[in-house]
Amino acid sequence: MKTILVTGSNGLLGQKIIYALLGKSDIRCISTSKGANRMLVKDGYTYESLDISDKQEVANVFAKYKPDAVINTAALTNVDACELRKEEAWKLNVEAVENLIEVCEQYNTHLVHLSTDFVFDGENGPYIETDIPNPQSYYATTKYEAEKRIQQSSLSWSILRTIIIYGVVDDNSRSNVVLWTINSLREKKTINVINDQYRSPTLAEDLADACIQAALRKAKGIFHVSGRETMCILDMVRIVADYFHLDQQYINPISSASLNQPAKRPPVTGFIIQKAEKELDFKPLSFLEGLGIVKRQLMEVGVAL
Ligand SMILES: NC(=O)c1ccc[n+]([C@@H]2O[C@H](COP(=O)([O-])OP(=O)(O)OC[C@H]3O[C@@H](n4cnc5c(N)ncnc54)[C@H](OP(=O)(O)O)[C@@H]3O)[C@@H](O)[C@H]2O)c1
Repeated sequence: MKTILVTGSNGLLGQKIIYALLGKSDIRCISTSKGANRMLVKDGYTYESLDISDKQEVANVFAKYKPDAVINTAALTNVDACELRKEEAWKLNVEAVENLIEVCEQYNTHLVHLSTDFVFDGENGPYIETDIPNPQSYYATTKYEAEKRIQQSSLSWSILRTIIIYGVVDDNSRSNVVLWTINSLREKKTINVINDQYRSPTLAEDLADACIQAALRKAKGIFHVSGRETMCILDMVRIVADYFHLDQQYINPISSASLNQPAKRPPVTGFIIQKAEKELDFKPLSFLEGLGIVKRQLMEVGVAL
């Protein structure tokens, strides 16, 4: 029986990983997040409240469970919040990762860490794992600094970089580009949508499977893990509107420059995912297939579509 510990399990990816692990009888699943457990299903795994920026809490939980692998999904993921609250971003996205590295070294635990397409400047996408990062925002800097610390450690590690994760969490409380589009257009609210940034949307379930494979296989190195299709964010939103039969007149195309966001975003990312396909058996669904899953899950939580 292998023990896998997941951090940030209240988040979008964290929840999907826990649900995927529930189906595996040969794995003991330790679910951890800051504060109380917000998942609806409470059976089939052990939950511990764990703030990964608290070194002592991390040490205690590792001493108790001695996990074979840890999947670190916890992070300050709001890009503009990182720009405005730099100390907090550094503490969670860098120092907390140092805490995990220390205990993983102590217990010989394989670390699967989540990173981002934002480590690249977006001038030459789509990117392959060997391309050189050039972070353009504070969020991206913290994620890249964490990557470097992991790479310099003596750990067995996988870094999975991903792009725009979409999906539905248990209480439908977390938003992402797909849910934002559906919710806004259903309420007939005008949305400003960027027409000059390109990304590969990633279904949370697909990414969760890749994280679990990385943990079980102790896959070594960096992996680019995203959906196969790279598209303009405006097209992404239009595809969502079309799929859910929503009125596109409320979509207002705008340029990145006119949005004036605190953090700079890379114009064109997207990933070449062949390494993940080969070494993690990664088989992402198409964007339309992913939207089918989102639709089913929204109906399950009572959204009338
Ligand atoms: N979302 C994307 O589009 C995207 C794109 C590229 C890369 N990534 C990376 O993928 C990973 C997962 O992203 P996600 O969208 O699933 O994130 P998320 O939904 O924001 O989840 C992160 C979780 O971490 C928890 N957390 C916050 N502070 C913590 C702490 N000190 N200790 C333990 N847990 C803490 C949060 O708790 P609360 O729920 O209480 O806040 C949240 O549940 C992150 O590393 C992110 O950088 C995400």
